[in-house]
Amino acid sequence: MAFLALVAMASVALAADRNDKRGLCFVPNPDHPGDNKLWAGENSDISWYYNYQDTPSPAFSDFPQSDFEFVPMMWGVTEDLDATTFLDNVKGLIDDGRNITHVLGFNEPDGPFEWGGSDIPPKDAARAWVANFEPLGEMGVKLGLPGCTGGWGSMPWLREFLGNCSEILSDGRDEKKNCTWDFIPVHWYDNFEGLASHIGERLAEWPNTSIWITEYAYAHKDLKEAQEFFNQTLDYFDKEDFVGRYTYFGAFRSDSSNVGNDTVFLNKAGELTDIGSWYLGGEATGVDPRSAASHQAVTGWLTLACFTISLLGLL
Ligand SMILES: *[C@@H]1O[C@H](CO)[C@@H](O)[C@H](O)[C@H]1NC(C)=O
Ligand SMILES: *[C@@H]1O[C@H](CO)[C@@H](O)[C@H](O)[C@H]1NC(C)=O
Ligand SMILES: *[C@@H]1O[C@H](CO)[C@@H](O)[C@H](O)[C@H]1NC(C)=O
Ligand SMILES: *[C@@H]1O[C@H](CO)[C@@H](O)[C@H](O)[C@H]1NC(C)=O
Ligand SMILES: *[C@@H]1O[C@H](CO)[C@@H](O)[C@H](O)[C@H]1NC(C)=O
Ligand SMILES: *[C@@H]1O[C@H](CO)[C@@H](O)[C@H](O)[C@H]1NC(C)=O
Repeated sequence: MAFLALVAMASVALAADRNDKRGLCFVPNPDHPGDNKLWAGENSDISWYYNYQDTPSPAFSDFPQSDFEFVPMMWGVTEDLDATTFLDNVKGLIDDGRNITHVLGFNEPDGPFEWGGSDIPPKDAARAWVANFEPLGEMGVKLGLPGCTGGWGSMPWLREFLGNCSEILSDGRDEKKNCTWDFIPVHWYDNFEGLASHIGERLAEWPNTSIWITEYAYAHKDLKEAQEFFNQTLDYFDKEDFVGRYTYFGAFRSDSSNVGNDTVFLNKAGELTDIGSWYLGGEATGVDPRSAASHQAVTGWLTLACFTISLLGLL
């Protein structure tokens, strides 16, 4: 009885420890599926994730929406701008009992395909938005504007997008309507001052809005700079009310990183680096992001080997 009560208390405490803002930008690792298991669960502060798609990741099928919230994204558009595939898929998730409360607009529509952007003219994006996002807004789902790059072109893109959106919705009528949206996702790969000013620029144009930083890291910096930036941004995001949520870009191994070797959560052997462990709410691991295997891992194997040998001795 006492034991059960303790277990129950422990799980409540762990659930309450999760950080409502902190999320996972999930890039699945098909070669090392074990890596995918690190991010959710009792030992993680991460409370939600997105995966650039509108279907939840099989890696997290053990976790109900209330434990590890999935936020669908419409990555880009197809040739048929009025297609409602995204809307239908999100409605399907809701009909199946998944409590979807937030969705994300297009991924880097102001960026070219070769850099990972969805490369959509504002006019086209607005049409696809009206077809897919406006009905979700009417259902009470909170809508994140398209997540533009950190480049200079992102503000003009957003303005043209919203301008087109109003034109489509108003459809020539005298009474003008604006598109519905609830928060602004941003991406950032440079220093802290630049990030704060990028956010400030958006708050100046749309006062009192909520900002989600859905991709960020100090790209291609050495370990010290990467860690300083990591600490500084985490403090800032957790403290400021205008930051709705955030997802660091780094939940992968250093040898598959396109944002630098020292900024990531995992070394080449899939072991948590300091940054990776801190993001989950743990202590520094001392694991060098560039290493192939750490001292700790070797000790782990030795312990296992000794254990096996002693078991064999028993037989
Ligand atoms: C869905 O999630 C929201 C936010 O966590 C919560 O307020 C609401 O009660 C949930 N709805 C259902 C039906 O569980
Ligand atoms: C609509 O978007 C196009 C680019 O796709 C842009 O040239 C035009 O100025 C925009 N319209 C408004 C009203 O912002
Ligand atoms: C639409 O948005 C523009 C730009 O933010 C604003 O000036 C205008 O008042 C809004 N119109 C309506 C009807 O809300
Ligand atoms: C700011 O947002 C809060 C909460 O959404 C709202 O109560 C308040 O009226 C807003 N203030 C302005 C100036 O829009
Ligand atoms: C980052 O924060 C951790 C505590 O979370 C601290 O141990 C570490 O020294 C900090 N590193 C830097 C470079 O600020
Ligand atoms: C650094 O990362 C790149 C990918 O961006 C990779 O090709 C390279 O092997 C990595 N270098 C080291 C020393 O791990």
